[in-house]
Amino acid sequence: MSKLVFVGTIGPGLQALEYAGRSGHDTVLVHSPRYDFFLSSAQRAQARELAGRVVELDDVHDTAAVLDALRAAGIDPSGIDAVLTTMHMCTVPTARLAQALGVPGCDPDAVLAAKDKARCRRILDAEGIPNLGHGEGQGPDELLAAADRIGYPVIVKPATGVGKVSTAVARSAADIRALFAAAERAAGTVEPGVAAELDGRFVVEELAVGPLYSVEVASDGRIVTPLVVVRRKTGRDNPVLELGSTVPCGLSAAQEREMGDYAVRICRALGLGLGVFHVEIIHTAHGPRLIEVNPRVSGGALPDLVAAATGRNLFEVLVDLFSGHAAPAEPFPPLACASHSFLTAETDCTVRTDLPTDWFEALRPRLHSGWTSIRPGDRLRRMEGNFDIYGVVRAVAEDVETAERTCDALTAEIEKTLGVRLTPAAPSERTAR
Ligand SMILES: Nc1ncnc2c1ncn2[C@@H]1O[C@H](COP(=O)(O)OP(=O)(O)O)[C@@H](O)[C@H]1O
Ligand SMILES: [Mg+2]
Repeated sequence: MSKLVFVGTIGPGLQALEYAGRSGHDTVLVHSPRYDFFLSSAQRAQARELAGRVVELDDVHDTAAVLDALRAAGIDPSGIDAVLTTMHMCTVPTARLAQALGVPGCDPDAVLAAKDKARCRRILDAEGIPNLGHGEGQGPDELLAAADRIGYPVIVKPATGVGKVSTAVARSAADIRALFAAAERAAGTVEPGVAAELDGRFVVEELAVGPLYSVEVASDGRIVTPLVVVRRKTGRDNPVLELGSTVPCGLSAAQEREMGDYAVRICRALGLGLGVFHVEIIHTAHGPRLIEVNPRVSGGALPDLVAAATGRNLFEVLVDLFSGHAAPAEPFPPLACASHSFLTAETDCTVRTDLPTDWFEALRPRLHSGWTSIRPGDRLRRMEGNFDIYGVVRAVAEDVETAERTCDALTAEIEKTLGVRLTPAAPSERTAR
């Protein structure tokens, strides 16, 4: 049995708290109301129920204050075996707390390097790992100079941003100027917890062309294993938008291994020690190219997709790693083919008012799993990023084509039922064939 301190949690991460409790570990949740917007009120209540103890404080970035709060709650820091998190914004505080306590974790500087898209690219270059052309800047002039050097089109994104806030393709200098002005406005409108991640720096990158994948990499500090490669669905008109995922990823065994090896090489180069890491990669004509590394397990709907396809739970691996288990030696073998699509709006729109309130239930028999928050008459915001998702439909089948086609048929039917246009996904090479 271990004493595990969780710093914050995302909704899906409740599975980690639940599993830790079920496995007999003693759990403490360090909770900051600053990140409450990540959870529904029901999830917040559930987190309190699942955690053995809850310690509340405003700023989890202040390590000394976290230690004081733990002590004030009667928790002896010397009895803590590990500190972990499922929340992106808490990865640095988690690493710092682990370091202060002298328990296993990630080097805080490695976490900072992973979160900094500019620094991460420089590390790849220094290590000779295949990389995309890149540059960094604070203002439009520096960004324009970098884009000229790289050549248009480029991707521009905040160096430390999340959730697609202010990430866009720029095809000209005018695009970069417009993007920069929009980014300044956006920084003022996002949740303070998201805005706090931004530091005014942007990266300009060569646009990678090809399908997007992500790899969940487990590391116990010694064994580093790519657990699963996931194919990501992206927007037909805007490749920055992520619209769902499929497992298995559809690559040949050799290509999947190449992808996994590339992700592992990057995690090792960054010095990420203990945990499950989420590495996003585009498979270009020249081979895999890094998009970004998240120094934490995938959030969102992806862990449930992996569980549907492999029977393995990423959050359980995470808890096992932090309670002293070795990383799995092999990737998760696939058991079934699973695909899901997000319900997101192509434009600002209003859902039919004469929609039955239980409209989603009619789809249930054809779903493996799914949810929606959409109700009659709801106004939906045009999808700008990960914070504009109104539901998910997931299908499991014996083959990937059937799973993906089922998702496509379900989303087409949902468009008709709601009377709105959902964001169109780029056709996958498989289903397009
Ligand atoms: N260099 C690039 N080339 C092509 N697409 C990119 C590139 N960088 C980002 N993207 C697209 O934009 C999305 C968001 O970028 P990412 O760096 O993952 O930021 P976020 O932290 O917001 O997820 C990616 O999932 C990918 O679809
Ligand atoms: Mg990303």
